[in-house]
Amino acid sequence: MKKIILLLLFAIFPSVLTAQIKITLNADQSKIQINRNIYGHFAEDLGRCIYGGIYVGKDNTKIPNTDGVRNDVIKALKDLKIPNLRWPGGCFADTYHWKDAVGPQNERKPIENLAWGNMREDNSFGTTEFLNLCELLSAEPYLAVNMNTGSVQEAVEWVQFANHANGTSYLTDLREKCGRDKPWDVKFWGIGNESWDCGGNMSVDHYINLYKQFATAMTSYFNTEKLYRIAVGPGGPGNEWTEGIMKNIPARRFEAISIHHYSVINWSNKGSSSQFSDEEYFKTMQQAWRMDDIIRTNGEIMDKYDPVKRVALVVDEWGGWYDTDPDGNGQLYQQNTMRDAMIAGLTLNIFNNHADRIRMANLAQMVNVLQSVILTKDEKMILTPTYYVMEMYNVHQDAIQVPMQIISNDFVMGNDRIPAVTVSASKDKSGKMHISLANIDNINSQQVEIDLKGFNATHISGKILTSSKVQDHNTFDNPKNVVPKNFNDASISGNYVKLMMPPISVIVLELE
Ligand code: AHR
Repeated sequence: MKKIILLLLFAIFPSVLTAQIKITLNADQSKIQINRNIYGHFAEDLGRCIYGGIYVGKDNTKIPNTDGVRNDVIKALKDLKIPNLRWPGGCFADTYHWKDAVGPQNERKPIENLAWGNMREDNSFGTTEFLNLCELLSAEPYLAVNMNTGSVQEAVEWVQFANHANGTSYLTDLREKCGRDKPWDVKFWGIGNESWDCGGNMSVDHYINLYKQFATAMTSYFNTEKLYRIAVGPGGPGNEWTEGIMKNIPARRFEAISIHHYSVINWSNKGSSSQFSDEEYFKTMQQAWRMDDIIRTNGEIMDKYDPVKRVALVVDEWGGWYDTDPDGNGQLYQQNTMRDAMIAGLTLNIFNNHADRIRMANLAQMVNVLQSVILTKDEKMILTPTYYVMEMYNVHQDAIQVPMQIISNDFVMGNDRIPAVTVSASKDKSGKMHISLANIDNINSQQVEIDLKGFNATHISGKILTSSKVQDHNTFDNPKNVVPKNFNDASISGNYVKLMMPPISVIVLELE
């Protein structure tokens, strides 16, 4: 009888039954650093990401800017502490020739953006503007080399332009003419982009041979440039592509493999970014969860050839992808809701927990394209729910990962189920511990108990991002609809922390 009453109650008020999530942290077993580059971003010459979103031109008198870059965007990105920025693509990089976009702006070569809508691109934002922006943001630049229509020579010269001492060649003279004496010392170089698709539709063997030519010439035989070369990996689970790279590229010629994974429900019918059903929400979360499996399967193949984990896995494109919002006036522009905040919380927990192999990641994309942290409309700018999750989680940058076990309830739809709660934790230099939790369940609250093994805490505080509906978002008229708030509902008792997580919530706790 009691069981029947409970089931009835549950059917009528699903949230009356609160769940027990048990987490055990092993703070005394921490040893892996969470590389801050996991919190990186991606800005492609696509839609209104660069032009309008980041760069408005040096002569713009309507939108306050520094050398053409919007001041509101600079401030937001500095506050976010972005560690690195990937540019110029994406598929755009696969036909990009960097020399078209250096020197006096009125002498630059206008080109057609072949990857994205054949728009005319005046190339006023080029290498100099990008690298200066990264310097301003204290973010490491990550350049994607054109391995499709570009040449090895062009890539070698890009390295010289960016990194060699002044006066070494006509390329460093050119840099000086662009107003820059000292090198930028760009460390991160992606060799190709999606070479199995828009980057040339190559077979893995073709890619490997070409990669070796690029990587050797860009850096010299023994990588005396000390570049961090990122080879193209598969666009999904580990397969013969990952195997081919690991087996055939000598260790001294690459430092990382990149993978891409988007949380998309169906490539031919992606659905609206702001008006979606519970079923679509669940399916998006399922896709986001696949990241764990994708990292694991690629990692298993890499472990066979590289058990000491010298080679990093870099997820240099990730995020939610929906139909382009017609109101956004830009290709791949989409609204950013609490659904995206949940993708971010869940995915960043996965990355933190795989920090032994994942050492860089880039959210796609930074402004006005796909899962953006910033949206702009002329002189207006708003921060998205994803921005706030990235900001709350930046406490993990370069902190030491705390290993853990979790017993979670499932988030269920029909016969499908995925864990409702994910968590990751780290200890920072000052000795504070941060625990980030995401409850993707849009109906049930979760009662969480955390055993703080190996850590003594006397004080706890926190921040929460939540809202009543997964579709909730910020707009240019209501920019503060979804913002983080202080979270005071966690308590410490002895060695245990207890808290109640509302449905669709991301919480970051600080313990000292
Ligand atoms: O981020 C949008 C596109 O997605 C990128 O240009 C490409 O690399 C990927 O397919």
